[in-house]
Amino acid sequence: MNKAISGFSKLSKEEKIKWIANQYFSTPTEAVALLKNYWNSDEKIQKLHDEFIENTITNFYIPLGVAPNFLINGKYSTIPMAIEESSVVAAAAKAAKFWSTRGGFKTTVINTEKIGQVHFIYKGDVTKLNLFFAQNKNKFFSETESITTNMQKRGGGILDIILKDKTDLLPNYFQLHATFETKDSMGANFINSCLEQFSKTLKEEAHHYDLFTETEKDIEVVMSILSNYVPNCIVRAEVSCPIADLEEKHILNPQEFAEKFVQAVQIAEVEPYRAVTHNKGIMNGVDAVVLATGNDFRAVEAGIHAYASRNGKYSSLSHAKIENGIFTFWLEIPLAVGTVGGLTSLHPLVKLSLEMLEKPSAKELMQFIAVAGLAQNFAALRSLTTTGIQEGHMKMHLNNIINQLEATEEERILIQKYFKRNTISHSAVVTFIENLRK
Ligand code: MEV
Repeated sequence: MNKAISGFSKLSKEEKIKWIANQYFSTPTEAVALLKNYWNSDEKIQKLHDEFIENTITNFYIPLGVAPNFLINGKYSTIPMAIEESSVVAAAAKAAKFWSTRGGFKTTVINTEKIGQVHFIYKGDVTKLNLFFAQNKNKFFSETESITTNMQKRGGGILDIILKDKTDLLPNYFQLHATFETKDSMGANFINSCLEQFSKTLKEEAHHYDLFTETEKDIEVVMSILSNYVPNCIVRAEVSCPIADLEEKHILNPQEFAEKFVQAVQIAEVEPYRAVTHNKGIMNGVDAVVLATGNDFRAVEAGIHAYASRNGKYSSLSHAKIENGIFTFWLEIPLAVGTVGGLTSLHPLVKLSLEMLEKPSAKELMQFIAVAGLAQNFAALRSLTTTGIQEGHMKMHLNNIINQLEATEEERILIQKYFKRNTISHSAVVTFIENLRK
């Protein structure tokens, strides 16, 4: 069957669903029913979601959970997290509780600079290009005034624009490398609009620049786009306490625990295979808050992993030390996020999440996200260096296995009771349920 179609986006939602159901499903009515089952009964809410993207056919659920008891710089918060992985919210909540009685999390935003670039090709005398840029630099600012006025009122705007010679990397390749302050917005639209204006100004001014030859006047802009690499938009989160205070149920020997924990972090600092998984654990917390607050998790992921490789080798985002009997664990990550614009006032659950966080500024949101990442990393390393990861993970995953096996309520209770004392695995649960059903 030919599964290509033209004009799909012009079809109504009902028509799209019908087409898909007939093309791809052996039982089209069931497929349609399932898709419709996930529609929101409130038509207004459904329309909103339909219009976020093209060709929406239904909603795709991810649980929104909360991790309470986060003591951050002396104040308690409950952090919303949108994530499907069973153990993540439980781990965050556990780490939050642990640190709430040990001084809590300390956070600082180190800087908030965003970056955008106009990538262009100039075939000619570099000295003349430098002179042209110096003489016309103010025009890049004046010709973007209509875009920057509002941002300037909020205390933001274009910080600087520099000309970069990249001809050592590619023939005739140059950049306008611009830095921005975008206050509470993530700033993607603002930055890209400024950059597209820079590109126009660049081409027009070059065209009228008397010192350029005809070839030099013909600057070719390849593209104008923000960078998701923001190494000067950094937040730091930290926990620390005297080693003796680390003692609890699973940490009977705090000195040994602290030393093993530091070793685990050091391994992630020197060994990329471990660093990737270590950082993935951090991203469990980071992405969940980024998603719940309507921010772009792909941008955050890309920027953070680039930062993890900034010294030429992929490495841990977090660090730990023991000094004078004090255990300290911290991370620094780049985060370009916003609490205004984008989805923040559009998606009802994003609005709710931001209200739960008491309407944070972008800087405050950076701190919540970093804390969620650090808490997650702490929880993972605590399990890995003590009981192993599977105990807690499988405890949370047990419900998924029970659901997969379509256990009755009675069976569920018996399974949960039995596996409180026995090691959980998929096959062990299957065997147990088979025995029950015999
Ligand atoms: C699982 O989602 C995350 C961990 O693998 C992180 C880690 O190993 O540090 C547990």
